[in-house]
Amino acid sequence: MAIRTILHYPDKRLRGVAQPVSRFDAELARLIDDMAETMYAAPGVGLAAPQIGVALRLFLIDVAVGENQPSDLRVFVNPELIDRLGQVDYEEGCLSFPGVHEEIRRAERVKVRALDGAGKPFELEADGLLAIAIQHEHDHLEGKLMVDHLSLLRRRLVNRAMQKRAAAEASL
Ligand code: NI
Repeated sequence: MAIRTILHYPDKRLRGVAQPVSRFDAELARLIDDMAETMYAAPGVGLAAPQIGVALRLFLIDVAVGENQPSDLRVFVNPELIDRLGQVDYEEGCLSFPGVHEEIRRAERVKVRALDGAGKPFELEADGLLAIAIQHEHDHLEGKLMVDHLSLLRRRLVNRAMQKRAAAEASL
């Protein structure tokens, strides 16, 4: 297992549309292990493959991160959101936007169809943080980011903060 580098906004690779996973082999298993290690080290409740520069439709979520609960790792490969219900506002963060927390409106409940890490299909109805995380991570597979959900003013403020951060990192 290895910790991978998490790409930060405005890295262009975060804007690509990811391709479906077609092979459930040792390479995919290693990628999932690396993503889990990277997510827990960050720490974060979710990580999508494009965030480590891998353009595949795959994300991991563990809503128990930071909650002092047993781990609850869920792997979603080639996920499809097949139903969205209700509306909720929640303050989200993203490992690709360190230090940024913004209130975003999403569906309150979702139904998702996906494959697990071994290629076995499953369906899941989710609410609460899990539903929000599923929508957030699914956005990453489409090259969509949390800033895209914000007002123009908030987007400008986040852009400025992230550019400042990128400049500081570049000068290190
Ligand atoms: Ni994110």
